[in-house]
Amino acid sequence: MRVIRAKDYLDASRKTANVISAQVILKPDSVLGLATGSSPIGVYQQLIKWYQKGDLDFSQVRTVNLDEYVGMGPGDEQSYVAFMRRNLFDHININPQNTHLPNGLEANAAKQCACYNDLIRGLGGVDLQLLGIGHNGHIGFNEPSDCFAKGTHCVELTQNTIDANARFFENKDQVPKKAYTMGILDILQAKRVVMIVTGESKAQILKEAFCGPVTPKVPASIMQLHPDFTLIADEAAMSLVGDLL
Ligand code: GLP
Repeated sequence: MRVIRAKDYLDASRKTANVISAQVILKPDSVLGLATGSSPIGVYQQLIKWYQKGDLDFSQVRTVNLDEYVGMGPGDEQSYVAFMRRNLFDHININPQNTHLPNGLEANAAKQCACYNDLIRGLGGVDLQLLGIGHNGHIGFNEPSDCFAKGTHCVELTQNTIDANARFFENKDQVPKKAYTMGILDILQAKRVVMIVTGESKAQILKEAFCGPVTPKVPASIMQLHPDFTLIADEAAMSLVGDLL
């Protein structure tokens, strides 16, 4: 595990974008695993700027997103597919047919999960996976549990996650209760993983995830075992780890 300390959100975003940028330059047809939430927005903004300056070309890049709310599709502003279009895809020269998210409108969970697992395998796996972390340690929507879920599956979101994501909706009742998410094995099988963690509100979970034991109670802790995992965190998020990391 590699730890890169950043000053603040902007610095962490730029450093993370640099890692993604290098990946795309070195392998123009990379499969990027992408994430939603507020953590990666600054990363996407930086990538858009470099694309606009002519420094980056996404024409051959393929993407697979970690997750999607069940019951939501491109027409829903809060869906992750709409988030990705708004925050990244609509602003770069990526081929929309090369961008993939679980289909939240597919009601048959078994079918959708099998289909997404096949898709990831068909692409040859993920070259670089971008991750954020939930306040309870979730990655994608892999919530704290008694065991690590392997492949894409349908999850019941915890109240903690529903509350945290309520800020994107008009009220808490509108937050979907279920989501499709890549599993822990899918994430572990990515060749490289980079996680961005910023802000004081993430300091406690960052300490638990990376200075504590590997446990499905803190899903992100499994990343300690990944052979090419980079944590990029700002001073506020690192404030409780001292020199443990
Ligand atoms: C959601 C996403 C996660 C993300 C998490 C943290 O639950 N499914 O992929 O890491 O939110 O979001 P934020 O970066 O806004 O704190």
